[in-house]
Amino acid sequence: MTTNTMTMSLNVTKIRQDFPNLHIQVHGKPLVYLDNAATTFKPKVVIDTILKHYQSGTSNVHRGIHYLSERATQDFETTREKVKDFINARKALEIIFTKGTTESINLVTNSYGRTFLQKGDEIIISGMEHHSNIVPWQILCEEKGCVLRVVPINDNGELIFGEFLKFLGPKTKLVSMVYVSNSLGTINPIKKVIEAAHRLKIPVLVDAAQAVSHIKVDVQDLDCDFLAFSGHKLFGPTGVGILYGKEELLEKMPPYQGGGDMIASVSFEKTTYNVLPHKFEAGTPNVADVIGLGAAIDYVQSIGLENIAEYEEELLAYGTKILKSILGLKLIGTAKHKASILSFILPSIHPHDLGTLVNEEGIAIRTGHHCTQPVMKRFNVPATARASLAFYNTKEELDRLVAAITKAKEIFSD
Ligand code: ALA
Repeated sequence: MTTNTMTMSLNVTKIRQDFPNLHIQVHGKPLVYLDNAATTFKPKVVIDTILKHYQSGTSNVHRGIHYLSERATQDFETTREKVKDFINARKALEIIFTKGTTESINLVTNSYGRTFLQKGDEIIISGMEHHSNIVPWQILCEEKGCVLRVVPINDNGELIFGEFLKFLGPKTKLVSMVYVSNSLGTINPIKKVIEAAHRLKIPVLVDAAQAVSHIKVDVQDLDCDFLAFSGHKLFGPTGVGILYGKEELLEKMPPYQGGGDMIASVSFEKTTYNVLPHKFEAGTPNVADVIGLGAAIDYVQSIGLENIAEYEEELLAYGTKILKSILGLKLIGTAKHKASILSFILPSIHPHDLGTLVNEEGIAIRTGHHCTQPVMKRFNVPATARASLAFYNTKEELDRLVAAITKAKEIFSD
């Protein structure tokens, strides 16, 4: 092992053996995967768990008394317990399985928003939201006549907290804010946001899509009212996500979708709904991937988020330093508190061209607006290149990124 891949707390060389996808070649070179904000690779234990379910455990859940159905139901509900423990919710019934962060937010806008918000009510978001925490609220505002208020961000990509405080008032009925920005890396002072909103009894939804793989999230400590995240950004499968909601709020909310499993009884005269969490889980859920998410959570817990955060902090500092050494490179997103996301631009190369050239070197970064067009507008750029890091990345990989960028610059200077 080299000193570069080892900290006191994390044996990255060993960890990398757990991720088959890290060991492929791209264009004849070992892959460097730096697109973890888009999706993370899955450890073998997650892949094996899903395979096992399909090979010897396939069944629907909550519907059968036969062996396979009971086993699948048990595995499915065990994952709910694991999620509960992972985010420290009070009860497993506060954990709703969805398709992902986007569906979790849409569940809140459709159920809570359509029921409790009225014309003239204000919803506060920030200037660094992903489209999935903008558009559902815009649709709601259009339908109900509510007003969307956007807290500005400063030149470092930080929330202007004083402006947020000024926005809070009797008309504010909900705050929905990202914990970690996917395009800037900024870690928002979300606990302070929640405390300020709660002083006026305003509920807060936290978009934790980019937070859960980098920071220990504790919903009781944060005291958030809702929190959303996706399995696939937490080393789990795609197509499964979580909505956490406080029990008393979820109880008050009507179902989001109708169908099987979300009912207590159905007749043509009157249908009654199932108890939490099933009230919000209509139809056959994504059984295999929920069970896979359980394996992902076990895996992340076995490494420890404190260890992950410590290692990634070191990686981020190193990546920031060496990227800044490239003449002309400008980092977009220089907040004091940042997760391991490095967005940048170069004066002479469009991010898409840069992405194409580094791809030829076997390096995967994301280029574009990252589903945050207002952020691009704020920084007056059409797009950025983004290297987003996970705990299996190394300083050597960042060195390869810098070498590839330097090579691309040379090509463009010809
Ligand atoms: N939201 C994901 C990203 O930032 C897809 O890339």
